[in-house]
Amino acid sequence: MTQAPTAPRSRFTRRSTADEVTAGLDLRGKTILITGCNSGLGLESMRVLAARGADIIGCARSHEKAEMAAARAGADITPVACDLSDLDSVVTCTEEVNRLGRPIDVLMCNAGIMGLPELRQKYGLEMQFLTNHLGHFVLVNRLLKAVLQAPGGRIVMVSSLGHHFAVPGGINFDNLSGAKYYHPWTFYGQSKLANLLMSNELARRLAGSPATANAIHPGIIHTPLMRNLSTLFFNLSSALSWPVARNVEQGAATQCYVATAPALEGVSGAYFADCNPARSSIHARNPELAARLWAVSEELAADYL
Ligand SMILES: NC(=O)c1ccc[n+]([C@@H]2O[C@H](COP(=O)([O-])OP(=O)(O)OC[C@H]3O[C@@H](n4cnc5c(N)ncnc54)[C@H](OP(=O)(O)O)[C@@H]3O)[C@@H](O)[C@H]2O)c1
Repeated sequence: MTQAPTAPRSRFTRRSTADEVTAGLDLRGKTILITGCNSGLGLESMRVLAARGADIIGCARSHEKAEMAAARAGADITPVACDLSDLDSVVTCTEEVNRLGRPIDVLMCNAGIMGLPELRQKYGLEMQFLTNHLGHFVLVNRLLKAVLQAPGGRIVMVSSLGHHFAVPGGINFDNLSGAKYYHPWTFYGQSKLANLLMSNELARRLAGSPATANAIHPGIIHTPLMRNLSTLFFNLSSALSWPVARNVEQGAATQCYVATAPALEGVSGAYFADCNPARSSIHARNPELAARLWAVSEELAADYL
């Protein structure tokens, strides 16, 4: 089997914006699905990719939210309701998308929640694992045929640097409910590690096909995602000009770059930050862990695949 090309370095940096990294691209005729299109990085990605001519399928928890977001972004999109923590909703969303009968050029798995202070569960699963990972697992699997119909379909998993701070062992298969132990941040880390492992396992499964899967860390951006984090960090970082936080235009750059850059044709199974290849954690690079997560996710979501 031919190996995917190594991800090349780009001229872009942490200061580059989504507008800059897609400048000059003509995305007319491309269909791009974005989850979490109504806020933060998803909204900015939708705005920029629509401005480059792409047909956007914008997913939000409700049809109305997606429509309102499109109006805010000045984008003409196909709005679709998709609540990732409700697997019936994910199934309905994919049925609606599949009925459109279009190849999907980019599947941008962007939506997410972070650091829920109290343990929340559904289907016997901890909510961040369910929303960030399993909802996207069902979505991607049910749309994979449409991605494979595109000439070079790309799956972009929006992970996080936070994947480095997952639970001990990476994924606590014997505590996916959080009932034995729960910590808001290590469970966020676990869900973001799951995004990365899923991307790597997808890349392995897609090898030899025209489709690719890659994961990204967008940087640290003050969006509504941060609602459970003290604003002190951001106030201090901007007051002292720490080079940590960036704005939403910069935050959406890496996912838009990985979704569209001609230089990344065929690149799969890579992890990016600041529009360049980056080093993921030791757990993220463990293929056995990725395969086990895939198998367990298939079991957990068996009724919805
Ligand atoms: N911001 C950062 O510093 C940062 C750093 C690393 C990684 N990330 C990742 O970047 C991605 C985007 O985050 P963001 O900063 O743009 O946050 P955001 O502004 O809070 O956007 C998150 C999006 O996810 C949606 N969402 C949440 N729960 C959902 C559910 N159950 N079903 C469907 N959609 C749901 C939200 O919808 P509602 O508005 O309806 O809640 C919203 O559209 C996330 O995956 C996050 O983990 C962000």
